[in-house]
Amino acid sequence: MCKQIYLDAPNVGELEKKYLIKAVDSDYVSTIGPYVPEFEDIFACYLGINRAVSIQSGTGAIHIALHELKVSRGDEVIVPCLTFVASVNPVIYVGAKPVFVDVDDRTWNIDPKEIEKSITKRTKAIIPVHFYGNPCNMDEIMRIAKKYNLYVIEDAAESLGARYRDRYTGTFGDLGCFSFNGNKIITTGGGGMVVGNNADRLKHIKFLVNQGQDKTKGYYYPEIGFNYRMTNIEAALGLAQMEKLDNFLTKKKTFNKIYREELGDIDIIRFQEEYQNAKSSWWLTSIIFDKDIDISALQKRLKEKGIPARRVFMPVTESAPYRQYKQADFGNSYQIYEKGLCLPSSTLNSEDNIYYVCRIIKESI
Ligand SMILES: Cc1ncc(COP(=O)(O)O)c(C=O)c1O
Repeated sequence: MCKQIYLDAPNVGELEKKYLIKAVDSDYVSTIGPYVPEFEDIFACYLGINRAVSIQSGTGAIHIALHELKVSRGDEVIVPCLTFVASVNPVIYVGAKPVFVDVDDRTWNIDPKEIEKSITKRTKAIIPVHFYGNPCNMDEIMRIAKKYNLYVIEDAAESLGARYRDRYTGTFGDLGCFSFNGNKIITTGGGGMVVGNNADRLKHIKFLVNQGQDKTKGYYYPEIGFNYRMTNIEAALGLAQMEKLDNFLTKKKTFNKIYREELGDIDIIRFQEEYQNAKSSWWLTSIIFDKDIDISALQKRLKEKGIPARRVFMPVTESAPYRQYKQADFGNSYQIYEKGLCLPSSTLNSEDNIYYVCRIIKESI
């Protein structure tokens, strides 16, 4: 067993150092430099999509996607109630109204039936979140979007490398958004990416992230833009991490398999499950207890044994600014929050670490 057990810590090492030193030696440490376009090209190529534009964060990616699609005041955007708050904050940034819907209790992903029920004449977009790396039901979501003429902005912050019907998450909607925060599948320290197949749209996003500058006219800005550019140093990290991506995904899948083999027979434990045509990235393997277990007490007990486990995200409608938007019970989201637990899934762990976590969970419940 490794000395330490990691929940979602980043896995960086010699390769990252090599790329970082090259970036420093080249003097390109800021927003100009060869690694930025290289990272974008390699990322787009990996996903099999027309273009990827790098950005400062996953939150910024969702913000600029909404801005690009002209979602604004008076519009409604359908979002899952169970997600990280950054999936929803950008809806407020652009002045639109978030309309929360419940998730499915098996996959923990936005429930397409609930989406369809929540559509009004003001609905402009849907933000499906591939929760903890698990692909949403993209067949149904894209069918609904087409039927009602809605935009789809995929929040693929946690699902790099996850697939639905053999297509990568982030490539189904009008735009896909990724995060490279330290705890994600790959990291650039902090950063994100917007991807899409519409070349004009992505070209415009590239222009917007650089203050909306018309470079042919010097310091001239025909539109109000943002300073959302990724730096060469961050892109250097990203390039090294892309070389390790397959290895990271294999490890996470192996950890998920071990957890299922070791804990799957316990009748009070259920795992987050995939849709039939989905392959999760297993960013964080997570379970729910079908019994009244004090999750915080269990978390504390695990911590005493050196195991960092995490509560599932609190439904966004519990946070003060969003309480006014809680128009239903959202029973599944609240149940998953109250009884769910995220297990150590960082690729820094060894398989022995995962077996140890399973043993302590069995002893503790
Ligand atoms: C589902 C989800 N969406 C959006 C984000 C925002 O990404 P970032 O932290 O890079 O802004 C995160 C992670 O932090 C996330 O987990």
